[in-house]
Amino acid sequence: MPTDVRASHKLRVLVCGPLHADALARLREACDVTVTTAPAKEIFEPERFEALVTLLTTIVDGALLERFSALRLVSTVSVGVDHIDLAACARHGARVAHTPDVLTDATADIAMGLVVAASRRMGEAERLLRARGFPSWSPAFMLGKSLRGKTLGIVGYGRIGRAVATRARGFGMHVVAAAHGDATPDDDVPRVPFRALLGASDVLSLHVPLRASTRHLVGEAELRAMRPGSILVNTSRGAVVDEAALVSALRDGHLFAAGLDVYEHEPRVHEGLLSLENVVLLPHIGSADEDTRRAMAMLAADNVVAFATGGGLLTPADISK
Ligand code: GLV
Repeated sequence: MPTDVRASHKLRVLVCGPLHADALARLREACDVTVTTAPAKEIFEPERFEALVTLLTTIVDGALLERFSALRLVSTVSVGVDHIDLAACARHGARVAHTPDVLTDATADIAMGLVVAASRRMGEAERLLRARGFPSWSPAFMLGKSLRGKTLGIVGYGRIGRAVATRARGFGMHVVAAAHGDATPDDDVPRVPFRALLGASDVLSLHVPLRASTRHLVGEAELRAMRPGSILVNTSRGAVVDEAALVSALRDGHLFAAGLDVYEHEPRVHEGLLSLENVVLLPHIGSADEDTRRAMAMLAADNVVAFATGGGLLTPADISK
């Protein structure tokens, strides 16, 4: 264990990528901090560092851990940890911290925004107007789908899923969630099996973390099991949806629309999606408001400082917590 090492010198921390100035200042109070914008695999003397602060664009895998041989902590400025091999970190003896809670409202706002934008064709309408194509107000122009009285199916009824439910109720929607294991719900939101939820939802919103078990959770068969004319919203991780299958379900009109903030091969976006009118596309901005991004950076820094000063992680993400 590095306890003796921590007692004898300041924890050596490598910050990979830009970090909010307030978070950097907090880190510097307790740690020996190096900031880099170079890819982690190009870092000189990686074995010097005991902690990494990463963004979700840094892949922390076995190869990286081999180079960063003294690493004891990975603190990611994200709630998602699919860019980190948690099992490899555990084998290496490195703890993992992430930033849940502080981004719940921001992400739920974007999810609900996508529900509204996709159902009311806001992306398509704006493109048309900018192309100077607004003919004149007319009764059947740009008709979308109403939300009041419709069913929102939530897959992944955790912090963000619940926050989306709160917003959706404000729009007069009924909320139903996918059942998860045998857990007894602590609220009155109906839980139905995932397959049944697909056929019961007018809008389906995804809030599951990306893992082996959720990769392509929504594939060709699942998309075809969704109600004709329904809407898919994804603010979780792109690879939860089979993007090629989504393109075909949007193209042939089986789905009315989709709203996406995340992509299977980010930052690349499937050409088929780019060419469709009935999909609203955002560049992974779920947590991108000033307050939230500062709060995420501060929490990532606080986790490092807690570790450096011998305390427990505030928000551990690893399997050894
Ligand atoms: C954003 O996608 C995050 O995981 O924080």
